[in-house]
Amino acid sequence: MASSLSVVNSPASPHALGRTSWPGLIEAYRPYLPVTAATPVVTLLEGNTPLIPVPAVAQRVGKGVRVFVKYDGLNPTGSFKDRGMTLAISKAKEAGAFAVICASTGNTSAAAAAYARRGGMRAFVLIPDGYVALGKLAQALVYGAEVLAIKGNFDDAFSIVREMALSYPVTLVNSVNPYRLEGQKTSAFEIVDVLGDAPDWLCIPVGNAGNITAYWMGFCQYHQEGKCDRLPRMMGFQAAGAAPLISGKPVANPETLATAIRIGNPANWEKAIAVQQASQGQFTAVTDDEILEAYRLLASEEGIFCEPASASSVAGLLKVKDQVPSGATVVCVLTGNGLKDPDSAIKHCNNQFKPGIEPTLEAVVQMMGF
Ligand code: F0G
Repeated sequence: MASSLSVVNSPASPHALGRTSWPGLIEAYRPYLPVTAATPVVTLLEGNTPLIPVPAVAQRVGKGVRVFVKYDGLNPTGSFKDRGMTLAISKAKEAGAFAVICASTGNTSAAAAAYARRGGMRAFVLIPDGYVALGKLAQALVYGAEVLAIKGNFDDAFSIVREMALSYPVTLVNSVNPYRLEGQKTSAFEIVDVLGDAPDWLCIPVGNAGNITAYWMGFCQYHQEGKCDRLPRMMGFQAAGAAPLISGKPVANPETLATAIRIGNPANWEKAIAVQQASQGQFTAVTDDEILEAYRLLASEEGIFCEPASASSVAGLLKVKDQVPSGATVVCVLTGNGLKDPDSAIKHCNNQFKPGIEPTLEAVVQMMGF
C-alpha cells in the first residue's frame, strides 16, 4: 500500500500551504472549480471534514484491511450537501438569481436554505410530508426557507420542481444542477490529500445518485492531475426498499427508515451506472436491519453518530466484506450527522435512560448497581 497517514499534512493539501485557517472549499480548491474572480463566494467554511479510522469496523472485515470514515456530517449544516450548495448558490448569485428551489428528503433543503439565505436569496423547498427527519425540518424552518410539504414522495416533489424551474424565475439546486456535483467532488480531493492516494474502495450511500457521481469526478480529476496513482472501486449502497439501481427499474413506492435515501427513481441514474462500470464497482442493497446494526456499531463502538442513511455505507461494506482484497484501504462516506434524526436514534439505539430517580447519592449509587 502506497498510502500512509504520515502525509496528513502533505504539501498536497491546500490546508497545509501556510494558511492558518480553512478558507472553505471554493478557496481551497479554486483551480479545480468553475469559478472566476467575478463569482461571489457564498460560504460557511464547509469542507475539510475528518477522515477517521474505525478499528472496530476494520476488525469485522479482517484481512489487514484499513477502514476510515469520511465524516461529512461535520459540515456546517450537518451533511455533505454543503459542499455542493456553496458552489450552486455562489453560481446562482453570480447569475443574478433571487430565488432557488429544490425537492428534498431533508438535507438538501437544510443546506439550500442556509446558503440561499446567506446569499440573500429566497429558498423554496418541497419535502415529502411526514418523511423528513425532525432536525432537517427544523433547520429549513429556522434558516427561513419557504417549506412546502407535499402529499407524495421525493420523486413526486422532484418532478414538480424540475418542471417549475423551466418556467418560473427560480434556480433548481438539486443534484441535476452541475455546480452541485462540482462542489461535492472536493470530498474526493480531501481523501486523497490525507491518504496520499485514492483508497482501494469507496463505499457510499446512494439515493438520487449525485454524490457517487461527484466523488468519481473528483478522483478522476485528481488522477489526471497526477495527485493519485489509482482510482477506487466505487461501491454504492441503497436501502433494500428503495433500490432501483439494483433491481434495474424505478421503485414506485420506496420504503426505508433511512428516509434520506427513500428515493425510487434517481435523477442521476445513467451517470451512476457509468461510474459503476468505469470503476468496476458494484451496487448492493442493504436491509433496514443491516443499516441499523451499522448505525449502532458506529455510535457505540467508534463514538461516531451518523444518520441512518449514512450508516448504509458501513452496513454495505460489512455485507460484502468477503470481496475486499487483503490489506486494502477502504473509505466509507458518512454523509449526514446523527443529530439530524433524533427520533430514529431514540427508537433504535437498544438503550434507555433511567427516569424518575430520587435526587440523592444513595438512589443514584443504587441505580448504578454499585
Ligand atoms: N446520505 C444522506 C444523508 C442524504 O441526505 C442523501 C441524499 C444521500 C446519502 C444520497 O445522496 O442523493 O447524492 O445519492 N439526500 C437528498 C436530499 C436526496 O434531499 O437531502 P445522493
